[in-house]
Amino acid sequence: MVPSHYHDSVLKAEKVGLRAGVFDSGVGGLTVVKSLLEHRLFSEIIYFGDTARVPYGVKDKNTIIRYSLEALEFFKNFDVDIMIAACNSVSAYAIQELRQASTLQVSGVIEPGVLALKNKALSKDARILILGTRATIESKKYERLLKKEGFTHIESIAPSLFVPIVEEGLYEGSVLETTIEHYFKGVKEPDFIILGCTHFPLIAPAISRYFPHATLIHSGEAIVEYLEQSRQMTRRFDKTDLKLFASENPDSLKKTAARWL
Ligand code: DGL
Repeated sequence: MVPSHYHDSVLKAEKVGLRAGVFDSGVGGLTVVKSLLEHRLFSEIIYFGDTARVPYGVKDKNTIIRYSLEALEFFKNFDVDIMIAACNSVSAYAIQELRQASTLQVSGVIEPGVLALKNKALSKDARILILGTRATIESKKYERLLKKEGFTHIESIAPSLFVPIVEEGLYEGSVLETTIEHYFKGVKEPDFIILGCTHFPLIAPAISRYFPHATLIHSGEAIVEYLEQSRQMTRRFDKTDLKLFASENPDSLKKTAARWL
């Protein structure tokens, strides 16, 4: 295990550039990339989507860890300064293993999501709804960290159908509305909703229409806040170069990036 001061000094060093490796199970992590691009925290982002083996959210812990360690090998070719697991399912199960297997700083999106919520919530009595894949929800990682922060009113749902709906590009309309109704019916309006899956920010407007008073926590915005606050990454680059890689059909990933980013 590399001591944390080593990671900090790597990131604080006056380097010409700062390169992030962003890893996701597929295309969804582009929602996190979008926030990183908007805030220009890095001079270069290397994105790797494991499109050949997506989805991770229905797989078990050991498989997710194995796939994540293989992705780490991919990033070793690029001299990245930090690896960001944009995928909540990876963040739920594999962060410890990734850190142990590497001298890189590795960040998931779950600690950042919890920090973002903590920064926004005025009361520990806030009602929180966590949305994530089955893997993320079953890991109970959000729940554990939120409870550690003193939050007690926590509900979790794994709305698995949201992922294929987003992949179909159905960001609005009756299929989405019916599915939202299916999962949210009977759920009391929360104060905060954690969008604990890379795909969910794309249907944030529809979720907000159902629960208009809830504040949404987005992994992309959360990781930016986390890097700024916990890693003192306040430097801004003029631009960020983005390089996209996929384990299958990289052209399709590039097309999605052109649409989403
Ligand atoms: N990227 C995944 C996540 O955020 C969603 C898609 C999948 O199941 O692989 O958990």
